[in-house]
Amino acid sequence: MDIKISPSILSADFARLSADVDKVSGAEMLHIDVMDGHFVPNISIGTPVVKSLRKASRMFFDVHLMISDPLKYVGPFADCGADLITFHVESGSDPDAVIAAIREKGKIPAISVKPKTPAQAVYPYLDKVGMVLVMTVEPGFGGQSFMADMLPKIKALRQKAEELSLDLDIQVDGGIDLNTAPLVAQAGANVLVAGSSVFGSGDPAAMVEKLREAARA
Ligand code: DX5
Ligand code: ZN
Repeated sequence: MDIKISPSILSADFARLSADVDKVSGAEMLHIDVMDGHFVPNISIGTPVVKSLRKASRMFFDVHLMISDPLKYVGPFADCGADLITFHVESGSDPDAVIAAIREKGKIPAISVKPKTPAQAVYPYLDKVGMVLVMTVEPGFGGQSFMADMLPKIKALRQKAEELSLDLDIQVDGGIDLNTAPLVAQAGANVLVAGSSVFGSGDPAAMVEKLREAARA
């Protein structure tokens, strides 16, 4: 499958957000992390920022909702310019209702699993979503170490998708760099989120290309 890179703006300079987003415009998507201080122990970006970014960028917006009760916020984030909306299976909202709400807005639904949640938790939804996100760190913060024990989960999901003849995007998020990109790609992931490795590098645009190459190798 084609490798796609989704730089996470959580590691960007929020005082120069638009300039940082421009640096990664060569990526297939832009990963926007939304945290509510309840589902995860951190607070990040809300709808006003997405709305402003929408005016400043034509990139595909991959919005990762790390929030409780995502059903309540699908509408606002869709209206502010999200193209794809990821919610967590552990979030407390009924996954079928959230998926339906995202589709109703004409956006792509994606479902995510935290490290301690087994792959099986999302099997019932694989044919209803465009993407599954396997967290490779505990959600909440950028710059954490990649959890190699998530590789079997990625493999299991890719195998299940193939069994069901689904052309499913499998995204990974957390600790993705030039060392871990080949590992996740070999396991079956094709959409790689990268925050600190991209924005912490001297040349974010070049790092996007390098990550894509590393994943293809
Ligand atoms: C963490 C967020 C990630 C984060 C990844 O909970 O979901 O998207 O920005 O950061 P890195 O790539 O630095 O691990
Ligand atoms: Zn994320």
